[in-house]
Amino acid sequence: MKKISLPQHSKMLTPDFVFGVATSSFQIEGAANDREPSIWDTFCAEPGRIKDASNGLVACEHVKHWRDDVELIASLGVDAYRFSVAWGRVMNADGSVNQAGLQFYIDLVDTLINKGIAPHVTLYHWDLPQYLQDQGGWLNRETAQRFADYAEVMAKALGNKVASYATLNEPFCSAYLSYEAGIHAPGVKNRQQGRQAAHYLLLAHGLALPRLRKHAPKAEHGIVLNFSPCFAATDAPEDIAAAKLAHNYHNLWYLQPLLTGSYPDLRHALQAEDMPTISAGDMELISQPIDFLGVNYYTRTVFREKNGWFSDVPPTTPPLTTMGWEIYPQGLTEVLVDLKRSFTNFPPIYITENGAAFADKLVNNAVHDEARIDYYQQHLLAVHNCIEAGLDMRGYFAWSLLDNFEWAEGYTQRFGIVYVDYATQQRILKDSAKALQSFWRNRAAQLQTVDAV
Ligand code: FCB
Repeated sequence: MKKISLPQHSKMLTPDFVFGVATSSFQIEGAANDREPSIWDTFCAEPGRIKDASNGLVACEHVKHWRDDVELIASLGVDAYRFSVAWGRVMNADGSVNQAGLQFYIDLVDTLINKGIAPHVTLYHWDLPQYLQDQGGWLNRETAQRFADYAEVMAKALGNKVASYATLNEPFCSAYLSYEAGIHAPGVKNRQQGRQAAHYLLLAHGLALPRLRKHAPKAEHGIVLNFSPCFAATDAPEDIAAAKLAHNYHNLWYLQPLLTGSYPDLRHALQAEDMPTISAGDMELISQPIDFLGVNYYTRTVFREKNGWFSDVPPTTPPLTTMGWEIYPQGLTEVLVDLKRSFTNFPPIYITENGAAFADKLVNNAVHDEARIDYYQQHLLAVHNCIEAGLDMRGYFAWSLLDNFEWAEGYTQRFGIVYVDYATQQRILKDSAKALQSFWRNRAAQLQTVDAV
């Protein structure tokens, strides 16, 4: 079996760097009856929305098997676990707290800590309670206030036991894919609404931050964004301009307001009526200092000009993942180096997600996923290269611990380092999990030896 390794002098081998695995609530939890329905339950019930017509009602039954899953995480030798909280498992429609739901996360956090695993919590990974969608969802400013209330409940309950709180995961997806491209819940296609949803999501982040800091002053507080470096399909000036517009529209639209308090100036491309409504004071709230930026990285994207706008050109040259994504590890380094150059206050970084889906086959209780081992090896080196280039890299989380519900792709995509047999809910370590496990355990053993000296 292939091995994963890093240069001996790599900072990623020191105790200051955090290694972990990641999941999200809707994708693994199941136990849908014990929480409020979310927009993803509604979306899954609509014909044609999900590739295999599946849903998240059962998923990996993590709520049932969470103790075993924590054992599994501990067996990997990681320092940390990143998971998200299902808003509707904690907050009832009438605004009261679902005590049993909250207790689930308290027990999870306590058990992780007992095993020496640092909890990294994401408060919103796309599963908006349907009762808030019924009031307009992310097009209603009030949703941002409700998010801050919910964030406060979580910080009061978990406090400094949590190593880091991320307010949102990939607002690009909850705004653009959900309200503008129509491929994620709630499935709306409207440019202005996409921009408006992004603004209220960022506002939610800004309103939540002081509440989180108040109740968890020792934890780190930040947000998770996804970046895909944007390349032009040809040297033609209009394609180069299209790639630049895409970078502004998909990447900077979320990062720039957080770091500088303004949206990219797209007056040449966006109609005035497509711009979001912004109230006085919003941008100050949004641009409060953050302790870290979580970055999810998977691939790069190539664009060409189409009808005065940008259009992505799907890659065709293998090797591609089963998502159809190009494997482009250097993009992780390139995009972060470029962003650091653009912002004087570029924060410390955790890679909060990175991984790949392949056509895994379970044979004799084993999955020989060499391509995934290669993927991790190359991307870990890309993180190492970021450090060499002067970026403040704090950690790396593999996406994902388990195969799970991959949104509009249903269960057709397997991103786990651990295989899930959905019929039996058995978890089986793929070769990639074994390779990472041996890398992580060796690192931990070496750190202990250093400690002892
Ligand atoms: C990211 C999501 C995560 C997962 C991966 C493959 O955009 O944050 O939930 O779906 O993609």
